[in-house]
Amino acid sequence: MALEQTLILIKPDAVQRRLAGTLLSRFENKGLKIVGLKMLQVTKELAAEHYAEHVEKPFYPLLEEFITAGPVVALVAEGPEAISVVRSMMGSTNGRESAPGTIRGDYGVSRQMNLVHGSDGPEAAAREIPIYFKPEELVSYESSLGDWVC
Ligand code: TYD
Ligand code: MG
Repeated sequence: MALEQTLILIKPDAVQRRLAGTLLSRFENKGLKIVGLKMLQVTKELAAEHYAEHVEKPFYPLLEEFITAGPVVALVAEGPEAISVVRSMMGSTNGRESAPGTIRGDYGVSRQMNLVHGSDGPEAAAREIPIYFKPEELVSYESSLGDWVC
């Protein structure tokens, strides 16, 4: 069981629909540890770096328009097998085909405006996290406070 970190984006549609907190809660409720968190505007340059594998695809112009349309919430989540855990929580790419109970299955019917991004494997996570976070922007902590009600 590998302790992994994965990059998650709460995409512009989810931010504009006021779902950022709801989606963040789903990841926290699952037991993932948030070790990086920021809100930012994705530029065209950043979009092309993030989605390098898709830049030449026919859908890329619309993907670029969508992902740059408004701010995103970027986070790094950590946990045992966090990469595949997050991917299964997201559901499949197209909201119409995504199972109820998944984020995309519960909140959308679009293939493009599909609420969240999650790294699709260890190599992707290792490449994507530094695109959004400098090393010093990631934190490390334990649940050390014990009985915090006093
Ligand atoms: P992809 O990496 O295939 O999906 P996922 O986000 O599930 O890993 O594609 C990246 C994003 O590009 C996807 O979230 C939505 C968009 N997209 C389209 O708009 N049309 C398409 O036909 C595909 C495959 C993806
Ligand atoms: Mg992908």
